[in-house]
Amino acid sequence: MSVTARIAIGWLYLVLCGCMAPEGYEPHVPEGDPRQGREVLAELECGVCHVIPGVPGARGRVGPALADYKRNVYIAGRYPNDPDILTRFVRDAPSMSPDTAMPAIEMSEAQARDIAAYLYSL
Ligand code: HEC
Repeated sequence: MSVTARIAIGWLYLVLCGCMAPEGYEPHVPEGDPRQGREVLAELECGVCHVIPGVPGARGRVGPALADYKRNVYIAGRYPNDPDILTRFVRDAPSMSPDTAMPAIEMSEAQARDIAAYLYSL
């Protein structure tokens, strides 16, 4: 099979399998406050490594851009995009993915929930 045919089939597969979370998926973070989350993201300087819409100066290109996050199927390409898992990941990614370049960042559980709520609001 030619390379072009393989690429075409791969592309079709991606489109057909719907490799995005379904339209209308609205993850809910219990007790998460998105407005507060935006402030925590700025305070903890996550934007040094990430592009984060709505957070001033968040233009880092070390990690992936965190836009339209609720449409992502996986967190860091590994874990289902679920509020509890995201809350844990933003605080302590290395405990879940030991080889990740995303550092553990000191914050409270409540701050992590607020961050997750903000990311899902984008
Ligand atoms: C030193 C750079 C750095 C800092 C600071 C940083 N991150 Fe990350 N982040 C990364 C990298 C690199 C990845 C990719 C990790 C992977 O795929 O294993 C990542 C991944 C992520 C992901 C998963 C992205 C995806 O595609 O699913 C989220 C969410 C995230 N970071 C949120 C945050 C938040 C919130 C903060 C601040 C509290 C933060 N990051 C601070 C480097 C950083």
